[in-house]
Amino acid sequence: MSKSPVKLRSAEWFGTADKNGFMYRSWMKNQGIPDHEFQGKPIIGICNTWSELTPCNAHFRKVAEHVKRGILEAGGFPVEFPVFSNGESNLRPTAMLTRNLASMDVEESIRGNPIDGVVLLVGCDKTTPALLMGAASCDVPAIVVTGGPMLNGKYMGKDMGSGTAVWQLSEQVKAGTLKLHDFLAAEAGHSRSAGTCNTMGTASTMACMAEALGTGLPHNAAIPAVDARRYVLAHMSGSRIVEMVNEGLTLSKILTREAFENAIRVNAAIGGSTNAVIHLKAIAGRIGVDLQLDDWTRLGAGTPTLVDLLPSGRFLMEEFYYAGGLPAVLRRLGEAGLLPHPQALTVNGNTLWDNVKDAPIYNDEVIRPLDKPLVADGGIRVLRGNLAPRGAVLKPSAASAHLLKHRGPAVVFENLEDYKARIVDPELAITADSVMVMKNCGPQGYPGMAEVGNMGLPPKLLAQGVTDMVRISDARMSGTAYGTVVLHVAPEAKAGGPLAVVQEGDWISLDCANNSLHLEISDEELAARLAVWQSQQREDPADATGYRHLYVKNVLQADEGCDFGFLVGCRGSAVPRHSH
Ligand code: FES
Ligand code: MG
Repeated sequence: MSKSPVKLRSAEWFGTADKNGFMYRSWMKNQGIPDHEFQGKPIIGICNTWSELTPCNAHFRKVAEHVKRGILEAGGFPVEFPVFSNGESNLRPTAMLTRNLASMDVEESIRGNPIDGVVLLVGCDKTTPALLMGAASCDVPAIVVTGGPMLNGKYMGKDMGSGTAVWQLSEQVKAGTLKLHDFLAAEAGHSRSAGTCNTMGTASTMACMAEALGTGLPHNAAIPAVDARRYVLAHMSGSRIVEMVNEGLTLSKILTREAFENAIRVNAAIGGSTNAVIHLKAIAGRIGVDLQLDDWTRLGAGTPTLVDLLPSGRFLMEEFYYAGGLPAVLRRLGEAGLLPHPQALTVNGNTLWDNVKDAPIYNDEVIRPLDKPLVADGGIRVLRGNLAPRGAVLKPSAASAHLLKHRGPAVVFENLEDYKARIVDPELAITADSVMVMKNCGPQGYPGMAEVGNMGLPPKLLAQGVTDMVRISDARMSGTAYGTVVLHVAPEAKAGGPLAVVQEGDWISLDCANNSLHLEISDEELAARLAVWQSQQREDPADATGYRHLYVKNVLQADEGCDFGFLVGCRGSAVPRHSH
């Protein structure tokens, strides 16, 4: 039997010959576990977000079995436990509403239990940040195992990208170029294997962020869910976490400021989701790294997008893996001097650069060379101005070049319902030059900051062949979506941001090159409108009780990562008291 060389946290439960030790051990033994299984061995939690209501993570019990084999092989003892599964596709009003709830579940489950290290089984969008946030607040050794992307969608002989196809095909139905019957028939081919969205949506982006941060083994981000190598990686991760416990390699040694700076640069190179801005901030906050919105400008600006994946480009995650996956991108960045901190430590004990410096690159179409980028300057833009005093974001790789500098009159929607009711009106006064503005979809306003910022265009303009317009809101958008969409306006309308008082016909100017977003009214006019707005506010009775009360009262604005204020920070893993 292998003994760990370090003082194990789990020994505080199982290592004493007294009443407490009796209790902790005896109840575990009802599962048929002999003494030597949990005496002196690293006890490894497998934090599982499996759920049949989170289809992207529905294969995770099989993933967990392979993780267990690796843990046992390396001399650890695996204990699998469930946490709140934040499924993007089914949860209403938005899985973002419960990201922080899931993170609390993870944090308290890890800290309160006899766990020496933890494997985080993540996949669907919010599961990755939620588990990293919770684990970071405990600062135990942790390794991320992602479930992997779905195979390419297939329909009518063509590839179809998760989510992106939904936005594209539904606009074709509205424009009258696709029959409803054909639209509905595409559903089955759209999601035809286990795994997460196969586009560079939020799930793939966060998987790449986890790998770039150094929290997963190389290739963790891109191996397809159904590829046998996914299960090999799960096995190897199980073995590695046991070694990490024995080495005392805790999360705070990996999640350094340098790691986050690498991840921001990588996000630009992969054409990653705007949601990463919020999630990285929230994770950083839990481990004590002070990431700022302006870090995205400083590190992202001028970074080329190399990965040619939908929604920005052409291919899907299968091709990305076959082309060399994230290690190939990291190598390209590093060779060009664009990896800010190649010496950052990763979970396998090597530096990021050691892991990738010889990574093969098999396809220059999918992972482009530096001199043939998909977008020359792909970093997420942080916009500021009197319409977004605390910032807003835009993803240039998914936008239309001709709209990145634009001035137009506002068409204002008070909320999502107002938008849905009026956008279909043939009499709506709107042209391709209008700026669509939607309020009250932010963290407090929706609540939960839903992915509704990529408002579909008016059917009458779609029918005329208009494919993009400037859209502005305090919402997020799906990582699979595209368009010239200004998101995360902070402060949000519900919190009294200037967005709340934009009026129909106000002129708005967007200038991405100068990072500005401006409402063309005087400071006096803006202040007067805000004073009137403030006097009209009443509490929504729906916010008075339940989890929604906790959420609305405590959620931070988008620029602060939408965590709860009281959850920011690392609280460590110590538990001074016993339960009896
Ligand atoms: Fe789960 Fe896209 S809906 S990853
Ligand atoms: Mg999403």
